[in-house]
Amino acid sequence: MIIYFSATGNSLWVARELGARLSLPYFAIHDAKALSAYEIGTDEVCVLVMPVHAWGPALPMLRFIEQMDAGRFAGHPLYAVCTCGDDCGWTHCVLQKSLREKGLELRATFSVQMPNTYILLPGFDVDVSSAKREKLEAAPTRVRKIAEMIRKGADEMKTLYRPGTCATLKTSLIYPLFRKHIQGHTHFHATDACTSCGLCARICPTRNIRIKPKSLPTWGDACVQCHACIHRCPHRAIECGNITQKKGRYVNPYVYKSKG
Ligand SMILES: Cc1cc2nc3c(=O)[nH]c(=O)nc-3n(C[C@H](O)[C@H](O)[C@H](O)COP(=O)(O)O)c2cc1C
Repeated sequence: MIIYFSATGNSLWVARELGARLSLPYFAIHDAKALSAYEIGTDEVCVLVMPVHAWGPALPMLRFIEQMDAGRFAGHPLYAVCTCGDDCGWTHCVLQKSLREKGLELRATFSVQMPNTYILLPGFDVDVSSAKREKLEAAPTRVRKIAEMIRKGADEMKTLYRPGTCATLKTSLIYPLFRKHIQGHTHFHATDACTSCGLCARICPTRNIRIKPKSLPTWGDACVQCHACIHRCPHRAIECGNITQKKGRYVNPYVYKSKG
């Protein structure tokens, strides 16, 4: 089985492609009903798919691992596949540590470069269209290779995992800072373009957005900065302070309808 978290569709697309190649079903980490109803077959491979956030695993996936019923996965070959805009740092080590605490062992972690979604700091924006196109064109071959490795039962990942430069430093310094200080309270707000459709509240992985009929949504203190709300708003009606006004928006074009 494949279990994924995805804010803007990149990891969902990877989960879907891997599922097709490995003949495995894929489930969102939030679909508790489907996840618990599914019976994992004997020797069935389990793959966790998620975006890299600040050179570590996206927090919803870490929380999922902390709360998972490890017994269900014991004895199954376990893999992770990260999607990233550039590189992953030591995300694989963070995942391994957290799975070991549950008595599980990761066989290997792979990565797929996909269009970037991080837009909240100065200097960070979505990719220009040529870079976006190149990444989307290269991704199917990468996923095919990863599927082959998983099918062969590979337990090494040297060629298909991209740690990037200063990987240890990024994961050991920036990821803890991101988890401690950057998540939680954020400056997201809705503009006059908001139609109160409620999509942002429905897709927020931490149920951090409240919306009453005919009023603007409000954000609580449980934001994990996944960027689902800001990128997937169909009216481009969400901003974060002033910083995102001139930034682009992105959704995976094979999963969600792009706003251009
Ligand atoms: C909060 C946040 C932090 C990110 N940090 C990184 C990073 O450290 N390295 C990287 O290469 N990409 C980073 N990205 C880009 C995403 O990992 C990448 O675009 C991913 O494919 C998005 O997946 P999704 O569409 O499934 O949510 C970050 C994106 C967000 C929203």
